[in-house]
Amino acid sequence: MIQMANITKSFGKHEVLKGINLTVKKGEVVCILGPSGSGKTTLLRCMNYLEKPNDGAVTIGDFTVNCKRPTKQEIHTLRQKTAMVFQHYNLFKHKTVLENVMEGLVIVQKQPKEKARETSVKMLEKVGLGSKLDAYPSQLSGGQQQRVGIARALALNPEVILFDEPTSALDPELVGEVLDVIQKIAKEGITMIVVTHEMNFAREVSNHVVFMDEGVIVEEGKPQDIFGGAKEERTRQFLKRITPEWSYTI
Ligand SMILES: Nc1ncnc2c1ncn2[C@@H]1O[C@H](COP(=O)(O)OP(=O)(O)OP(=O)(O)O)[C@@H](O)[C@H]1O
Ligand SMILES: [Mg+2]
Repeated sequence: MIQMANITKSFGKHEVLKGINLTVKKGEVVCILGPSGSGKTTLLRCMNYLEKPNDGAVTIGDFTVNCKRPTKQEIHTLRQKTAMVFQHYNLFKHKTVLENVMEGLVIVQKQPKEKARETSVKMLEKVGLGSKLDAYPSQLSGGQQQRVGIARALALNPEVILFDEPTSALDPELVGEVLDVIQKIAKEGITMIVVTHEMNFAREVSNHVVFMDEGVIVEEGKPQDIFGGAKEERTRQFLKRITPEWSYTI
């Protein structure tokens, strides 16, 4: 289970997260929706302390970090339980696909190279890149690079994978292959939190949808409830704007 308890975060005077409470059950796929600037990325980054919350507590599995005074060791432990997939892939340009996936296992998890290689090859095969092990990122399409990013996250065997708009940098024709891979791993029961603007994906793949605006969770629920009949006006307006072609019960 993952729990964010009363998380607040300010940048200077700007309060970006205003007391977020969110619980994600093991194996759930949670989609976070919301307009630009609503705090989605900041929330995701607070989960693994890429951003330090001002207050509140983060729990992943049986491990809780109180955000007031965390120790370095606590932050390290929390990070080890998560993996992140970024919008712009963040691959090492001078390393091959296989080396990119092995890196975290060897350097951070201190695994022997052989074991790291075996896991990495398996994960790259899972995302359909078994034939690209020795390619460099520049030789791959955006969709393939993002699949490397997903294989890298999977290889770490984290308790949760955090996706920050994993398809928004891609050309439209490449979005499908990445969403298919995410859907495939979702079926394996890996806990995932996905910030996305892909409404079809949110509707069809997630178990739970969270709508954020201006640093608060406005509404959350099952996809059929949110897409079928959101209670809050702000949620309805947002959905109508993003997918005007869908008919919402208003
Ligand atoms: N490092 C930072 N320093 C100062 N302000 C920041 C920083 N990171 C984010 N912000 C501000 O916090 C607010 C929330 O940003 P955040 O990136 O979390 O939004 P978002 O919901 O992910 O938006 P988008 O959909 O555009 O990615 C924005 O107003 C942003 O300008
Ligand atoms: Mg963002």
